[in-house]
Amino acid sequence: MERLQKIIAQAGIASRRKAEKLILDGKVKVNGNIVKELGTKVKESDQIEVNNELLSKEDKEYYLLNKPRQVITSTSDEKGRKTVVDLIETDKRIYPVGRLDYDTTGALLLTNDGEFANIITHPKNEVEKVYLAKLKGIITGEAINKIKKGIKIDNSIIRPKRVKLKKIDKEKNTCIVEIIIHEGKNHEVKRLFEKVDYEVLKLTRRKIGPFSVKELKSGEYRKLTPKEVQIVYSMNKS
Ligand code: URA
Repeated sequence: MERLQKIIAQAGIASRRKAEKLILDGKVKVNGNIVKELGTKVKESDQIEVNNELLSKEDKEYYLLNKPRQVITSTSDEKGRKTVVDLIETDKRIYPVGRLDYDTTGALLLTNDGEFANIITHPKNEVEKVYLAKLKGIITGEAINKIKKGIKIDNSIIRPKRVKLKKIDKEKNTCIVEIIIHEGKNHEVKRLFEKVDYEVLKLTRRKIGPFSVKELKSGEYRKLTPKEVQIVYSMNKS
């Protein structure tokens, strides 16, 4: 917990004295509420606005990466394989939020903001992940319904919000299925299909929460905007 005027001064917006004046003048909001009391303590996750502008968290960084195959979702690897952190140019100690398998591609968030990472990964927030899975064989309606009804993985029932057959390739005997899940178990998509006897040949995550990788090529990344970071903070259910 830090004093509000100190945080404002540290963000480089105003001197400590000017920050105090801004507070007394009612120009400062904490989590949407005007705060006029000097010395109010705020925590890392609090959203501070000065003159209706969100204070940027100076040393926090947030990235959306379109993860390529054959990159490990970790900060280091004892086998010397390339990690997702190696793909991003920064001097901050960022880390991936959740994980994608070595051979899975798509939307992955990275940050050095622990609160942000918690909001995305905490089950209570039910952050949706949209996957496209290429399966060996053509999935039956029966198998889709089985998955929709719920499948037990690691002692909890996973009930995807959507399971939809998107494409069939009769010649190659494969199909593409879209699946939307908010749980975050290891290898969960592969395990779900395995339970109904289908092998996942390829897996990509198109979207995590509000963040889609539609506009990013494989291996490309972008920073989140302060507004996008704020959206994630507003997704936190108490
Ligand atoms: N489910 C999987 O099986 N693998 C991933 O990488 C992500 C979700």
